[in-house]
Amino acid sequence: MKIKAINGFKDILPDAALSWQRIEQVARDIFARFGMREIRTPLLEKTELFARSIGEATDIVEKEMYTFADKGITMRPEATASILRAFIEHGMHVQRPVQRLYTIGPMFRHERPQKGRLRQFHQMDVEVIGATEPQVDAELMAMGQLLLDSLGVSVSLEINSLGCPACRPDFRDKLIRYLKQHEESLCSDCRRRLTVNPLRALDCKDRNCKALVQDAPSILDSLCNDCQVHFTSVKHALDLLEVTYCVNRFMVRGLDYYTRTTFEFITDALGAQSAVGAGGRYDGLLKQLGGPDLPGIGFALGMERLALLMEQQNEHELHQQPATDLFIAALGPQAAEHSSLLVHHCRKLGIKAAMDYSGRSLKAQMKQAGRLNSRFTLIIGETELAEKEGVLRDMNTQKQQVFSLTPSADKQAKAMANLLAA
Ligand code: HAM
Repeated sequence: MKIKAINGFKDILPDAALSWQRIEQVARDIFARFGMREIRTPLLEKTELFARSIGEATDIVEKEMYTFADKGITMRPEATASILRAFIEHGMHVQRPVQRLYTIGPMFRHERPQKGRLRQFHQMDVEVIGATEPQVDAELMAMGQLLLDSLGVSVSLEINSLGCPACRPDFRDKLIRYLKQHEESLCSDCRRRLTVNPLRALDCKDRNCKALVQDAPSILDSLCNDCQVHFTSVKHALDLLEVTYCVNRFMVRGLDYYTRTTFEFITDALGAQSAVGAGGRYDGLLKQLGGPDLPGIGFALGMERLALLMEQQNEHELHQQPATDLFIAALGPQAAEHSSLLVHHCRKLGIKAAMDYSGRSLKAQMKQAGRLNSRFTLIIGETELAEKEGVLRDMNTQKQQVFSLTPSADKQAKAMANLLAA
């Protein structure tokens, strides 16, 4: 029986990997422009870290984590908790008052796989720790938008405020009172979560719940003065940076650590999975995890969803193999020996060079040069080797010229580099 990959775990094949590489390159370049530095944390952490940060009553912690129960460790379902753990463990606030960090890598959640939803998925996660200013919230959203624009992906930005420990409990009570009045119309999930996590009803996908919450109290009417000022300043800063957004008072996040600003980059092009990226502020979390009392804000973009969108929205750019500069068709064992050294020297000089070792016919090798989309093919048979003159064919124009096979292979590679640069 053939062994297949686990459901929800996917191979990224070479053609697709090209767009993944592009996503990563563009992201790293933009992150650097915003002063972000890379951090890499382990894939496994103590289970308690996620339970305490993401929240015991969340779907992620309740049912989606890959946990080795006997060892008390879990495969990370997201990156924020791990980055904060590392920040605290290494006293990173001592080195810099504000740390701007990013990480790129796989996360694990045992969700039901569907389009844009996997069990091993990849995030590009950004965190700014130590800054409380609303301008930072806006700057991060502007950075996310710039990155998505640069990748040619069109999304809309939705924002909300979830208040803080001073004002949220009051809103929570108001919401519970409202939901209790309509308990019989709620879906079973929302009924179950009514007292533990009532806010989830606000973004429940169930049709009845959706209709019901339209008239529910709005968190934006319950914000304390500080939270209100913060939210107004975030909106002002977004306007200043010319970032388009809309306020969505129903947005709540699936992780418990958020305070104040939350935001999502949304698309309707991926069916049920509408969020390409999401994040927000988590001002009390560091302290709660035993660290210094510092604020933080961040977001993560889902790379599978980005790749899917790029495929849909700018397909023509994708899957373009980088062309080979030079293919050497070697005929005969001595020609092959000479060619292998020449190919190696060409590669040392940055030339994308290839050859075939199987001793196939010229016709078969020319076919392979075509498959590799090679710009030039250098034909070296035993006669060419004896006369020290190879035949260099421009694969576009089919024009041929003589290429000197003297003096040494490194000099020949240099001559080839000059020829390619001309
Ligand atoms: P999240 O909303 O759980 O937030 O995930 C962020 C993004 O990861 C989603 O918008 C989505 O694109 C992608 N994603 C999540 N789950 C899956 C999945 N099963 N399959 C494919 N893609 C998925 C967080 O993870 C927070 N840590 C973000 C954050 C950083 N907040 C503050 N800092």
